[in-house]
Amino acid sequence: MVTLKNLTAGYENAPIIQNINMDIKEGEIVGLLGHNGSGKTTLALTLLGFTKIFSGKAEIDGIDVKKEKREIRKLVSMLMQVPDNQLFARTIYEELAIAPYKRGLSQTEIEDIVNTIATQIGMKDKLHHSVHKLSFGQKKKVAMGVLLSIDPKYYILDEPMAGLDFEGRSFMEKTIKELKERGKGILLISHDVLSLTLCHKIYIMKNGKVVEVVDGKNIKDIIPDLPQWGLYMPTL
Ligand SMILES: Nc1ncnc2c1ncn2[C@@H]1O[C@H](COP(=O)(O)OP(=O)(O)OP(=O)(O)O)[C@@H](O)[C@H]1O
Ligand SMILES: [Mg+2]
Repeated sequence: MVTLKNLTAGYENAPIIQNINMDIKEGEIVGLLGHNGSGKTTLALTLLGFTKIFSGKAEIDGIDVKKEKREIRKLVSMLMQVPDNQLFARTIYEELAIAPYKRGLSQTEIEDIVNTIATQIGMKDKLHHSVHKLSFGQKKKVAMGVLLSIDPKYYILDEPMAGLDFEGRSFMEKTIKELKERGKGILLISHDVLSLTLCHKIYIMKNGKVVEVVDGKNIKDIIPDLPQWGLYMPTL
């Protein structure tokens, strides 16, 4: 379980997220909804030990994020908001092969994993294509493929749907559902309420603070309140 208790964190001399209390259990999809600059990515980076913790606690399976960064990074991986910050290899094949290679798997096992994930992300015929020539949406899918190749216990997905077309969003939703069914704990970050329909509960952030926690079943009820939190209200 991911547990944040009265957590205040940020960068250097600037606390950005303040007094956050949050739980993410295994097999649970937790949404984090907030306006641009509300602190969503900062909270996500805190779970990986990349920010400065001023007070309070962040623990994953009882391990303190501040003290045991190496252990934490075995448990959690993050889909970055901007895929270019995540992808470094030359080809899609290499991106998907790095994690299984580091785990010491055989060439055949690595190829099996790469092929399975490439099929999942719809890139089987592009395995040897150059990553930096892909479109934004294609890069996002490859980045999700990289996470699947790592297969951590907890997935942090920072704006996984943003910039994706219908097919891309359907892929993300299907993948997130499958992860939940496999017992993974998932933090799903978005500024768009329509991307959070799969969530068990949704934390709403405004200016670095959690201002509301909503049960996923009641997501429709919060739509009229969205503008007061600086969020876009979809009308159908
Ligand atoms: N490295 C950094 N150093 C100092 N301040 C930062 C740094 N990164 C982000 N911030 C500040 O932290 C605040 C929250 O940013 P953050 O990226 O967490 O917001 P967000 O909710 O993810 O926004 P978005 O919806 O645009 O992705 C912003 O005011 C931003 O300027
Ligand atoms: Mg962000």
